[in-house]
Formats: sequence, C-alpha cells, structure tokens
Amino acid sequence: MAANAPTIPLLTPYKMGKFELSHRVVLAPLTRNRSYGNTPQPHAALYYSQRTTPGGLLITEATGVSDTAQGYPETPGIWTKEQVEAWKPIVNAVHEKGGIFFCQIWHVGRVSTTGYQPNGEAPISCTDKGVTPGLDGVDWSPPRRLRTDEIPLIINDFRLAARNAVEAGFDGVEVHGANGYLIDQFMKDTVNDRTDRYGGSLENRCRFAVEVVESVVKEIGPDRVGMRLSPFANYMETADTNPEALGLYMANALNKYGILYLHAIEPRMAKIGDRYETPHSLLPMRKAFRGTFIAAGGYRRDEGNKAIAENYADLVAFGRLFLANPDLPRRFKLDAPLNKYNRDTFYIPDPVVGYTDYPFLEDSELRSAPSSTS
Ligand SMILES: Cc1cc2nc3c(=O)[nH]c(=O)nc-3n(C[C@H](O)[C@H](O)[C@H](O)COP(=O)(O)O)c2cc1C
Repeated sequence: MAANAPTIPLLTPYKMGKFELSHRVVLAPLTRNRSYGNTPQPHAALYYSQRTTPGGLLITEATGVSDTAQGYPETPGIWTKEQVEAWKPIVNAVHEKGGIFFCQIWHVGRVSTTGYQPNGEAPISCTDKGVTPGLDGVDWSPPRRLRTDEIPLIINDFRLAARNAVEAGFDGVEVHGANGYLIDQFMKDTVNDRTDRYGGSLENRCRFAVEVVESVVKEIGPDRVGMRLSPFANYMETADTNPEALGLYMANALNKYGILYLHAIEPRMAKIGDRYETPHSLLPMRKAFRGTFIAAGGYRRDEGNKAIAENYADLVAFGRLFLANPDLPRRFKLDAPLNKYNRDTFYIPDPVVGYTDYPFLEDSELRSAPSSTS
C-alpha cells in the first residue's frame, strides 16, 4: 500500500479479548442447507476457507444443539460425536489460513414442523401459540409449551453444544438469541405468554437467555462466548413491544458474565430485503455493553467504515455480501466491484453452485475495471 493511502476503518486491526484481529470485516452467520443429515460436509471446509483471512473472524451458520433444534432442511448440528468429528476438518481449514472461527449454536423452538422432530412430536417453545402456517411457504406445526422443569434440560443442551464446539476446535461459540428462534421467543412479549418465572416481566422473559449464557460461560469460559440479538426484528412473528428496553436489559445482563462480544442486528433489517434507515438504533446497547460490539444488517463498505470510524461498533458482520464475495476484505481494501448475490441459490443443497463458485477478484479485473464508489 502506498504510504499516503487513506486508512480504511474496516481494515484496521482490533484486539477482541485474546484474539488479535487484523481487520473488522466479520463473516455473519449464514444458513446454507448443505449439511446432509445434519452433518457438516467436506464442501463446507472449502466454503469457509475461501472466506478466511489471517486474523479474520468467521461465524458459522446456525448449528443445532439437539435433535429438537432443527426446522429447516440439511442444517448442521453439534450434539453428536459424529457431528463433532465432521466439524474438525472444517475448523482446521479455517485455522490453517489464520482465521478465528466461532460456532453459532441454535435452537429453532417453534420455527419447525413435526417432520423435523424426533418421533414426529410437536416442536417445543415457551408457548403453544404457533407460527402462522404458510408463512414463508411452510406448514409450521403448533408447538408444545415447555414445562418449567424441562427448561434446564434445554439449557444443558446449549452447554453441551458449547463443549462440543470447543472439542471440535472452534475458538468459541455465538449463542443465537436472534431472528425469532427459541431464545428470542422467550425474550419477546408478543410470543412469551408464560406465567412462571420465565414469563411476564422483562427480567423473567430474559431469564432463559441469561441462564443459557451463564451455563455456556461456566462450561467454556467468558472469553470464548458471544451472543447474537435482534431486539428490533420481527422475524417469524417474534416481536417485542419495547425493543429498546429489551436490548438494553440484555446488554447489561451480559456484562455480569463478562462475555467476549455482543452481536446485534440493525432494526432496518426488521424485514429481510427492506432497508429501514434508522441509524444508530443500536447505540444504547453499544454504550452499555462492556465487551466487543458487532453490528450487522444491511451494511455496505461505506456504512461499515462509518460505523467503525464513529465508534458505533468495533466490528461489522456482513452476510449477503460475504456470501457472494469470498474475498470481501480484499475487495473492500481495493474498493473493487462486488459480485452480486443470487437469492435463488442461498438455501439449495448443491455442494458447489451458489456456494463455492462465487469468483474471486482477478488481478486482470483490477487493471481494467473502474473502482466502485460504495
Ligand atoms: C442466506 C442467509 C442465511 C442466514 N442465516 C443466518 C443464520 O444461520 N444465523 C443468523 O443469526 N442469521 C442468519 N442470517 C442473517 C444474516 O446473518 C444477517 O444478519 C443478514 O443477512 C443481514 O446482513 P446483510 O445485510 O449483511 O446480509 C442469514 C441471512 C441470509 C441471507
């Protein structure tokens, strides 16, 4: 780089706990539905290693914590020995290129059907109110409300999944508390209709989330734990009437456990595909949380740089842009044109198409193409 080249905020180093990140462009968790039989496949090693840079942070696709955790086809799990073994070469491929790799651990709760559940049973949730059948083209099944005495068993599944992730070689885990899945269902007041100590007040609704984090922290240590939240979102009919208070409560609650990072999704991503311009809605959470703060949702190069330069976030996670541009940090560095993502191949089971076949920037393109502005 020329001596007078301007500093690109996204490409400055950052120390996240014990991890020395060389830049701030994070691979967001992206479900890709290519883990046949809930087992990660060898093609995932290529996919993730393509997106690895030395000192770059990657988060896996949502990964099930138990046999009741799934609601979509061919998503990976991390509750069996076989799954742990299958993750190992994928983690190694990322580590060989110097990446830092976190596993997003997940339970879908009511976002499921009996077809995904053991013995065709009802999916589990904090409630017995289901997602409207037909939403997103799926005939979601009515859930079964968890009894109070069953909740510790689910928390234990998250703990064991975190232990397994470390056994598989991951640097840490991200607890998936976003996007309308089980933890989010408990937190949000339009879904959680419980009358026990896991429902009612904000503190009660957040108790499940906090106990999951506490249990995972006890198992693998706070310096290896992150959490993802989307208080403003209404994915899968999971909304809260006071998202500001929810986000702030959780940021403060997480401080008690000293976890490594909080990864929050912008409200403008409240609906997939929409871009609601509500800038800096995450600021109260960012200010309250004492660890590393990751922002995500609709970011492009210019907005990401601005978020870092203004100290709105420490890191920015990119989903669709990173999916379609395996060399995204390099393209950002050069302000090079980006590949366009193809929605039609996001969730297909093909091990190559729309997965590992997005092209890298060719040096020849750099000489011929004009530099983009965004
Ligand atoms: C194909 C696809 C799969 C996704 N899977 C997950 C997931 O497994 N876990 C998660 O927390 N978010 C998931 N998301 C949400 C993204 O992580 C991200 O928050 C969202 O795409 C907005 O960021 P972007 O505008 O940079 O794409 C997914 C998004 C897409 C497009």
